[in-house]
Amino acid sequence: MSKLWGGRFTKQTDQLVEEYTASIMFDKALAEEDIQGSLAHVTMLGKCGILPADDVEKIKDGLLKVQGMIRRGEVEFTVGDEDIHMNIEKTLIDEIGPVGGKLHTGRSRNDQVATDMHLYLRKRVVEFVGLLNKLNEALIGQSLANLDTIVPGYTHLQRAQPILFAHHMMAYVSMFQRDIERMQDSYKRINSLPLGAGALAGTTFAIDRHFVAQQLKFDRVYENSLDAVSDRDFIVEFLANAALVMTHLSRLCEELVLWSSTEFAFVELDDAFCTGSSIMPQKKNPDVPELVRGKTGRVYGNLFGLLTVLKALPLAYNKDMQEDKEGMFDTVKTLQGALQLFAPMIATMKVNRERMRQAVNQDFSNATDIADYLVNKGLPFRQAHEVIGKTVLYCIQNKKYLLDLKIEEFHQFSKLFDTNIYDVLQPENVVNARNVYGGTASNQVSEAIERAQKQLEET
Ligand code: ARG
Repeated sequence: MSKLWGGRFTKQTDQLVEEYTASIMFDKALAEEDIQGSLAHVTMLGKCGILPADDVEKIKDGLLKVQGMIRRGEVEFTVGDEDIHMNIEKTLIDEIGPVGGKLHTGRSRNDQVATDMHLYLRKRVVEFVGLLNKLNEALIGQSLANLDTIVPGYTHLQRAQPILFAHHMMAYVSMFQRDIERMQDSYKRINSLPLGAGALAGTTFAIDRHFVAQQLKFDRVYENSLDAVSDRDFIVEFLANAALVMTHLSRLCEELVLWSSTEFAFVELDDAFCTGSSIMPQKKNPDVPELVRGKTGRVYGNLFGLLTVLKALPLAYNKDMQEDKEGMFDTVKTLQGALQLFAPMIATMKVNRERMRQAVNQDFSNATDIADYLVNKGLPFRQAHEVIGKTVLYCIQNKKYLLDLKIEEFHQFSKLFDTNIYDVLQPENVVNARNVYGGTASNQVSEAIERAQKQLEET
């Protein structure tokens, strides 16, 4: 089969080499972006008088025709034509004749592929901001519904202090809000145009890069042609941002899996988001959070894979860089899948308030508050800590909780205790005592929800 670059060669490419070096199997996903970039490029060639208007019209019509054919699945991509760029160019020439061969004037596949990747990720980043917003809406919905649901808060996975379940959900809202900001920030660097850099050094044709940038709605063009064709930082950044989203999702996954267990029974995921066992009829497994947690590994792997490809690569383009694609596509697909499922799974999750309350009533997570109580009565915190430590030990030995103690029992440990200690120890009061900006008191959480809702509207 004749190659677009066949002139210099005296032999056919080895069949295995052809298959090994081809990328069409996966970069066909860039077809729309490739045509979009080519349309802008050829329009510029016409505007700059590099190609006659007639040729430009023929090429544009041809590109639109090829676009339609691809959309309808009528183009058979071939490994012989290596990648999406040459498959499209070949199809164009087949459709409109040798004039199609003028499209590549003043352009290289090196600046072309980089442009396609920028166009592709630009769209994806906008979609991901939308998906993250949807997830935050669902988390805020659960927060609003659980403004008076008290649950043990943990450190070291040991009960620490009671908190509002809404406060716990809103912690994730903060994480995903940072992810949104990171995605938005990365957009600045994605939205820079490499086209016009040529193979590496620029082009001898009097092209207008800024005109192309304008047409494709890029904010700017790459400053340096070598950098333009060899930069993959924007993909690394995307993969890193995606890795952090997955980190946050998988922490939430872990909690959902734990909370769904009979031991916790804090939440129940909707049947629609769970699966059964082929042998144990009673089982309802939290497969979705488990799998999202598991798929976090491949997203991390894709990030590290690309960093490793780029490490020590000399300037400018090297074929190694073709390895930037599969990991990126895989991360896009993995993240889309996870986020699409997560928002409705959170929205439909049942929260077992009674069970959470029961847990709070049967623990010592109000111990800090009686230590603080003694501090307010003038005892140094270290001494108060010691007194309450002993009180808790007494409770454990006598199978009681702090609220079960009689005032005489409290007095064995400190005479400073008054009967208002029973109020102080009520979980509602323990929660509402943390009335500090960012704390778990219900008015603070309500305000945090309002701020998050406002931020959501603004993104
Ligand atoms: N398929 C190639 C890639 O994805 C396109 C650029 C090829 N350029 C070249 N000079 N071989 O990286």
